[in-house]
Amino acid sequence: MSVILEGRDITRDYIVSGGFMRGAKTVRALHGISFSLEQGKTLAIVGESGCGKSTLARILTLIDPANSGDLIIEGEKIDIATRKVTSDLRAKVQIVFQNPYSSLNPRQKVGEVLTEPLIINTDVPAAERRKRAEEMLVKVGLERQHYNRYPHMFSGGQRQRIAIARALMLNPQILVLDEPVSALDLSVQAQVLNLLKDLQDEFNLTYVFISHDLSVVRYFADEVMVMNSGEVVEYASRDEIFTNPQHDYTKTLLAATPVADVDKIRERVARRKALFEGA
Ligand SMILES: Nc1ncnc2c1ncn2[C@@H]1O[C@H](COP(=O)(O)OP(=O)(O)O)[C@@H](O)[C@H]1O
Ligand SMILES: [Mg+2]
Repeated sequence: MSVILEGRDITRDYIVSGGFMRGAKTVRALHGISFSLEQGKTLAIVGESGCGKSTLARILTLIDPANSGDLIIEGEKIDIATRKVTSDLRAKVQIVFQNPYSSLNPRQKVGEVLTEPLIINTDVPAAERRKRAEEMLVKVGLERQHYNRYPHMFSGGQRQRIAIARALMLNPQILVLDEPVSALDLSVQAQVLNLLKDLQDEFNLTYVFISHDLSVVRYFADEVMVMNSGEVVEYASRDEIFTNPQHDYTKTLLAATPVADVDKIRERVARRKALFEGA
């Protein structure tokens, strides 16, 4: 097994205005985050709103720089503060955001959403771009004809499938999923989670799966990093986190989690699938 993504002591500060006549102050959003992730595995990052999950997601996907520490992708230190993000690098790590309503441009047709990463980062010709986009639509459980439709014509779950398809267009090795099902109805969550699992197996993808919901993480993760106020409070295998949590904060999170939910949803989806397939 080879390590594909590594963080060493990553910190991130935000400068925020203190208000009228009060000057600016620095808020530390991440206090030295370290982890290492093997190819094909899923690291879940959990913690309450405001603990720094999305800040870390933007650093891992080369959208924002860290203030200090190292980000290492495939053994190579990447510092976007001092180096341009090349298309090759951009293609390695992609992100899916929480809200599929705001992350898709309403004026772009689905085909444009999916081919845009190819236009920006590759010289794949137009006909081939279209072909790849249509194939990707099928892979995420949509249809080729959806290429010419606009995002508003789709449900939340379908929109998140479009966002996942877009993230996969450059054949990334790593996907950072920032609360990818949190904005979806419970019944749709399980379907999208199943899709993500299938895609991970098919493409040997490495996932950083961000969630505030431990019941979702339990279904998905190999390892779990629990964060609180920008710090890692516990980092262990999924089984250890769920059967033998060490830290009080993890125990509190677990106590607040209806752990049976996802299992129930999965059962329901499996029953319905069996029904359809039987029909
Ligand atoms: N652009 C920003 N400017 C100032 N503070 C920010 C900014 N983005 C996030 N923060 C602060 O950093 C902390 C972590 O935020 P975030 O990473 O969005 O947390 P999470 O995704 O876990 O909810 C919060 O206190 C938030 O208010
Ligand atoms: Mg967030």
